[in-house]
Amino acid sequence: MNAAAHSGSVAPPAPGRGAAPLLELEGLTRRFGGLTAVDRCSFAIEAGRITGMIGPNGAGKTTIFSMVAGALRPSAGRILFDGEDIGGVPTHRLFHRGIVRTFQIPHEFGRLTVLENLMAVPAAQPGERLWPVWLSPRAVARREREVRERAEDALRFLTLWELRDELAMHLSGGQKKLLELGRAMMTSPRLVLLDEPGAGVNPTLLARLREMILELNRERGYTFVVIEHDMDFIASLCERVIVLSQGAVLTEGPMERVRRDPRVLDAYLGGDEENEGATGTGTPAGGDASRAGTAAGRAAGEGHGGALGAGATDPGESPP
Ligand SMILES: Nc1ncnc2c1ncn2[C@@H]1O[C@H](COP(=O)(O)OP(=O)(O)OP(=O)(O)O)[C@@H](O)[C@H]1O
Ligand SMILES: [Mg+2]
Repeated sequence: MNAAAHSGSVAPPAPGRGAAPLLELEGLTRRFGGLTAVDRCSFAIEAGRITGMIGPNGAGKTTIFSMVAGALRPSAGRILFDGEDIGGVPTHRLFHRGIVRTFQIPHEFGRLTVLENLMAVPAAQPGERLWPVWLSPRAVARREREVRERAEDALRFLTLWELRDELAMHLSGGQKKLLELGRAMMTSPRLVLLDEPGAGVNPTLLARLREMILELNRERGYTFVVIEHDMDFIASLCERVIVLSQGAVLTEGPMERVRRDPRVLDAYLGGDEENEGATGTGTPAGGDASRAGTAAGRAAGEGHGGALGAGATDPGESPP
């Protein structure tokens, strides 16, 4: 994918955007023993936008998602969603409030079919109370019908309809990424956190994925934060990008400016050694030097996109 080709097609306004921030981080910090993975991060995400989050391996991107989605407790700082502090609130409660995430490594149920994978997602809408549904058999039947319709709608949208009865374990890496997006669509999410949706996805599917994200933003009003190492993908999708390095916000702004910022290039080019020293383990920062280098080339505008880093490590995850 070519950034220049898409520079005029970055997401136009989605309904309801530009209001107060939907998400605000204030001095957010997470330590793992002696390692500070996220270090006093502060930034805001506006409703209705698609915001990018980039930075070298080990910069703390996934750890931020894990805290916002309730899988990890912050060591310090605040996470405000709609103005309310949600730090430490568990994932299932945040899920019902409209915060969903997809994983760097897909978390599908391999032995369920594609359709069953979506129907297994807890189906309550944000703010909905479930107990009145459980008390009535008719309500249960209606609920099941609604869940099925919603799942079928998502599968058609994602062009996975033909694969609905296939076991999820038989999907390609790219199709599993689409299924992750489908799980997010099973609620009517307000904030969708996409962790490397393009990793391991072929260029054709990546272009489709991009269109789907744009449509979900424009037509259904989802607010997205997207972590991705493919700079062209980010440039074509996001008006604003937040750059992390060693757990801290290095800079933020439009991609055209960010990708020319010498500090950003330094962070990518120097990231391996620095992170290796910081973690003392060499992973994931040192474990995937080629990716960081490639990303730096793309950040400098030298890359041609399309080819994506594969084999993402996923150290910061806690299963949902
Ligand atoms: N559960 C954990 N226990 C210990 N250290 C962790 C844990 N999760 C993450 N880390 C460390 O925190 C730092 C940030 O990791 P994180 O996964 O957030 O980086 P990232 O920016 O998502 O990297 P990548 O681009 O490789 O996915 C790394 O040094 C990582 O090794
Ligand atoms: Mg990560």
